[in-house]
Amino acid sequence: MHNIDDLHRLAKKRLPRGLYAMLERGAEDEVTMARNRSDMAKLTLRPRTLVDVSRRSQDVTLFGKVSRSPVMIGPTGFAGLGAFEGELKLARAAAAAGVPYVLGSVSMTSMENVMQHGGGGRLWFQLFPWSDLSMNDEVIERALAAGYEALVITTDTPVIGNLEHILNSGFKLPFRYGFRNVLDVLARPAWLLEVLLPYLIAGKGGMPRFENYPRALRHAVTSSSRASIVPVMSDAFSWDALRSVRRKWPRTLIVKGIMDPRDASLAADLGVDGIVVSNHGGRNLDASMSTIAALPAIADAVGQRMTVLIDSGFRRGTDVIKALALGAHGVLLGRAALYGLSAAGEAGAARALAIFHEEIDRTMAFLGCNRIGDLNRELLVFDADFGRS
Ligand SMILES: Cc1cc2nc3c(=O)[nH]c(=O)nc-3n(C[C@H](O)[C@H](O)[C@H](O)COP(=O)(O)O)c2cc1C
Repeated sequence: MHNIDDLHRLAKKRLPRGLYAMLERGAEDEVTMARNRSDMAKLTLRPRTLVDVSRRSQDVTLFGKVSRSPVMIGPTGFAGLGAFEGELKLARAAAAAGVPYVLGSVSMTSMENVMQHGGGGRLWFQLFPWSDLSMNDEVIERALAAGYEALVITTDTPVIGNLEHILNSGFKLPFRYGFRNVLDVLARPAWLLEVLLPYLIAGKGGMPRFENYPRALRHAVTSSSRASIVPVMSDAFSWDALRSVRRKWPRTLIVKGIMDPRDASLAADLGVDGIVVSNHGGRNLDASMSTIAALPAIADAVGQRMTVLIDSGFRRGTDVIKALALGAHGVLLGRAALYGLSAAGEAGAARALAIFHEEIDRTMAFLGCNRIGDLNRELLVFDADFGRS
């Protein structure tokens, strides 16, 4: 497993077809997903030479604490289906690598369990705001009591993205046993034995549940109860609602899904501690600009006032270096971590993080940098059409 693509190929071989589509595919024609990558390639690096780079460190301080690398594992729903208790495995891999793990709302392991058995690293909790605001309060209080360091509110999903490819693959929520699904699972006996079966045994025959949903909505992934069709995300959630979350959450508050510098400034004015520049990995608006193209203006607007994180399309250490040189303070991994997890469980997730660590280290040496703080825009060359496609 030399790179993230190697982990991707192995993950694809191991996962049932519908589940692979669920993890991999983007919205509509996947234009945004492709643009996240193609804009990255329109930025190149200008190496420096004859610098003593023998004291390289990629430690960064995020929200007052040291991370051993500028990358961390972002929130992804259904991680628990990539491997048995996938969220615990991701948390442990992140803890061992000295980086934060963001547990998603749409997860199958309870936040208390992850806190207790997740390896003792830094843990953040991600929330999709519910239409019923009192449900948000319930989850926020629970995350506070469980000891989560940060709350990440995802605001880029007022409606669910148009994930046509996923629907075509047969993956649906609530998950249904159908001819196609069953055939799909039977074609991947290792997944059946190592992921599904342990859940069935642990749950005494029951399917995994969304353990971190508000109590009224907690149900199995196969459930067709009325609760499962309650819209996941509130389309009424606004800056005012965010202000009330700010009042209820005294610890680090991060808003995920910012693409416009004006929204970044509003978040900073409201007292939010950090943002994630994100287009949800191309799974929401399929005519969106790439995050790497959105980053410079956002970093210029708020980079001195708050922590600016980014995700969407990061597959190489050089991608991370480009974002940091543009002014980001850290990078969240979405699919890259899921590829590792689905390929080889905790060891695979750890390998994904190690690959980024090695690639970042090597790139820093080529650029004549000993510290992440040495990275700046002078190391970058912008293609004339960067951000213009
Ligand atoms: C399978 C999958 C599930 C996701 N679930 C969530 C989620 O529950 N909450 C959230 O904020 N973002 C979610 N995301 C978005 C990721 O946090 C992240 O923004 C995106 O994956 C970054 O793009 P990348 O996959 O190209 O790295 C999900 C992404 C994927 C691929």
